[in-house]
Amino acid sequence: MTDQIKQEKRPRVFSGVQPTGNIHIGNYLGALVQFVELQNTSDCIYCIVDEHAITVPNDPKELRDHIRDVAALYLAIGVDPEKSIVFVQSEVPAHAELGWILSCNAYTGELSRMTQFKAKSHGDESVGAGLLMYPVLMASDILLYDTDVVPVGNDQKQHIELTRDLAIRVNSRFPGTFVVPDGRFVKSGARVMALDDPTAKMSKSAPNPRSRISLLDDPSKIKKAIMSATTDSEGSIRFDVENKPGVSNLLSIYSAFSGKTVPELEKAYEGSGYGAFKKDLVEVTVDALAPIRTRYEEIRGSAELDRILDDGAARANAIAERVLRRVQKKFGLGRK
Ligand code: TYM
Repeated sequence: MTDQIKQEKRPRVFSGVQPTGNIHIGNYLGALVQFVELQNTSDCIYCIVDEHAITVPNDPKELRDHIRDVAALYLAIGVDPEKSIVFVQSEVPAHAELGWILSCNAYTGELSRMTQFKAKSHGDESVGAGLLMYPVLMASDILLYDTDVVPVGNDQKQHIELTRDLAIRVNSRFPGTFVVPDGRFVKSGARVMALDDPTAKMSKSAPNPRSRISLLDDPSKIKKAIMSATTDSEGSIRFDVENKPGVSNLLSIYSAFSGKTVPELEKAYEGSGYGAFKKDLVEVTVDALAPIRTRYEEIRGSAELDRILDDGAARANAIAERVLRRVQKKFGLGRK
């Protein structure tokens, strides 16, 4: 990183969430809690990545709604627009422009080997090229803001690695083009597993609604999902991902919501059955999510939300245009 690029003292943080329905406690514990935590020490930019959402077929009306849903959720969990920039990706054209430049520096081989591409394309050759380019657009999001730190869940590790590889590759040809970012991952919650199948990641799209807890679920839904969560027949509450993936997942969630360490929880529940443990986890989860739901309802339909997103887009554009221009010059694009 050169002094010319990095003048600010505070680290620059960038992250994003796709505007799809069912934002769940995996998204929250893996990524969103970090968004709030980092605001006081860093310059934070949080994006609603709507252009990523069209890499798979979707309904335009729902997409529009989900953009506002995610923006309202950012604010409801405690992202403060006075401290952080909150904006919608497609309102900053430089993301797609830098994406093109980066795509000319990415290899089709490395993109087709990405785990997410393989999982979503199922080897089908008529799958949209946007799915292959997904990680390049994500690299563009990050590199466009001279980002130092990217708070995300574990499932994004490979994408962050690709972003770093692209930045280093371009820098070796044109020194000083990009800041090389680092991923940031939490200890408990970086990979929250599905409640009905603790060997699979909790996901927005799994067909069984009891596989996840969405951030806006009411207490009765939360209770049903936790009380029916898959455990095992051993009956003891201890952390052992290999042999007890269900109980270990619940312990991680409990730890992340309560701030208690896993060993503390193991000790507290020594000799207790799963029923009592799950009941307490319901309470901890309901208490943690209740204020988010209340604030969300206040913000979601407000005019204030549009004002915040307009202001966010203006501030994001100002930074992005400057960085894009710097990159274009390095590549010899344009006349000035
Ligand atoms: P998305 O929308 O799928 O997920 C948003 C965030 O939630 C994290 N996450 C999880 N964390 C723990 N346990 C889980 N089960 C779980 N499921 C999801 C994700 O790691 C992510 O941090 N590609 C990104 C969006 C993106 C982005 C970016 C992120 C686009 N551009 C630039 C950071 C920087 C994604 O699919 O997120």
